[in-house]
Amino acid sequence: MRFVVLLTVVIAVARAGITDRYHPDEPRGVHSSSSSRASDKERETKHWADEAVAGIEERLRRQNNRNVARNIVMFLGDGMSVPTLAAARTLLGQRLGSTGEEHQLSFEAFPTSGFSKTYCLNAQIADSACTATAYLCGVKANRGTIGVNGHVPRWNCDASVDTATHVDSIAAWALADGRDAGVVTTTRITHASPAGTYAHVANRHWEHDAKVREDNADPQRCPDVAHQLVNMSPGNQFKVILGGGRREFLPVGVLDQEGSPGLRTDNRNLINEWLANKESQGVSHAFVWNREQLMSHASSPPDYLLGLFENNHLQYHLEANKTTEPTLAELTEIAIKSLKRNEKGFFLFVESGRIDHAHHDNYVHLALDETIQMSEAVRVATELLSEDDSLIVVTADHAHVMAFNGYTERGGDILGVSDDLDEDGVPYMTLSYANGPGARKQVNGVRVNVTAEPNFEETHGGDDVGVFARGPHHDMFSGVYEQSQLPHLMAYAGCFGPGKHACSAGPAIHAPILLLVVLTVCQILRL
Ligand SMILES: *[C@@H]1O[C@H](CO)[C@@H](O)[C@H](O)[C@H]1NC(C)=O
Ligand SMILES: *[C@@H]1O[C@H](CO)[C@@H](O)[C@H](O)[C@H]1NC(C)=O
Ligand SMILES: [Zn+2]
Repeated sequence: MRFVVLLTVVIAVARAGITDRYHPDEPRGVHSSSSSRASDKERETKHWADEAVAGIEERLRRQNNRNVARNIVMFLGDGMSVPTLAAARTLLGQRLGSTGEEHQLSFEAFPTSGFSKTYCLNAQIADSACTATAYLCGVKANRGTIGVNGHVPRWNCDASVDTATHVDSIAAWALADGRDAGVVTTTRITHASPAGTYAHVANRHWEHDAKVREDNADPQRCPDVAHQLVNMSPGNQFKVILGGGRREFLPVGVLDQEGSPGLRTDNRNLINEWLANKESQGVSHAFVWNREQLMSHASSPPDYLLGLFENNHLQYHLEANKTTEPTLAELTEIAIKSLKRNEKGFFLFVESGRIDHAHHDNYVHLALDETIQMSEAVRVATELLSEDDSLIVVTADHAHVMAFNGYTERGGDILGVSDDLDEDGVPYMTLSYANGPGARKQVNGVRVNVTAEPNFEETHGGDDVGVFARGPHHDMFSGVYEQSQLPHLMAYAGCFGPGKHACSAGPAIHAPILLLVVLTVCQILRL
């Protein structure tokens, strides 16, 4: 028997040849230590031991933070999968002249990280609408629906008219608690993720009235997303609204400030309605549509600020004119400065929304750059807000199918090809897509060479996404859990909203003191 096993192993090894077909040797010289881009220091055992000790000491310095979170900022990278984080941090490091892999995005330094499970009620692979309902309103719902629970099937206006199906967002919970709320995004402000803070709709595409009618629904009964933002609660109470999508607010036949047309067919100009609402309330307010106007309010923002910087989505940061287009970090800074004025605190939602779009088009450099832009916006937030009273949570709604692969050498261009070739001598892209315009099927069992070819659509991924937390009760965000827990955890830390609160049990008795008391009592009673 043993002999048979041994023989089988010998045959298997002989068949495989000397190399392991799963893990081929790299071409000699390419990864040899002499040509490696590793530093001399990194070749020493001590370097890694010291690095680990620094990591231990940093963890030891971390305190459990049991304060109440006065301010809460949630950052969302739309489609920011875990491989996107690894690739973006490498690109950021390489831009700064290092090998890159060892670099860190700002929020990767946060004390707590976890994973959220992104599936929706009727979907193994989520979209940005049902996920927004989960991470902002705290319930899992049907794909394509926003701010309504699982009783509302997509496109079903009738079902969504029943307000018992409506679920409020953490922004509404914060407002009900006397705090302020705001929303910032690089997409249309009526797009699925930001809409999760204020809208209740059976179809994410109902961004303006004509889209509701297109699905044979009545916008009087099922108001479009832009209308809800301007004229209904909680959107009409938001202090800061910054993003794109002017076309959703303007009627057909009316051109916006940059000459692009509106899409509304109800002849309403919602930007003017927003201005008129604030006028009638006698509150200070401003509408801005370019970076210069925005910056003119930087030092003392009005009570209410509406900024719509594009007819559609904001341009990709790498493609935008830096003079006329604000960055996500600039938008975030002004939003925080505005909201911070409320003594009771605030909830702010900030989305880097175009990571998703770039991934769909397989524009990996844009997807990574938009991720880096969010890292920068988070860094600005950490500088403006103290860890003592402000909770910052960074996460994604769903993954994408970008893979980080090949046997690329250390420090290899993250946007380039692997230095290894496959059996057929064809190079790999280090970052590739399982589907979409950049994906390639094998032809006659051979992979196609990586060159420009025509398009089809890339999809979301079903994997978990990362969650990073800093500030009061950050430790609540560790583990692997349902995405719909996120707003409940944030509101727990802030002691507001309908659920369980960190401070609802009154001042907590310190566990070691409690133990001491019990032991003393036992001793007295000689138990
Ligand atoms: C950016 O916009 C400004 C103001 O419109 C313009 O003067 C400048 O030429 C633009 N820059 C580029 C690179 O297009
Ligand atoms: C793959 O394409 C590149 C550039 O288009 C070319 O230089 C290379 O020879 C091709 N390799 C194979 C194996 O066809
Ligand atoms: Zn998408």
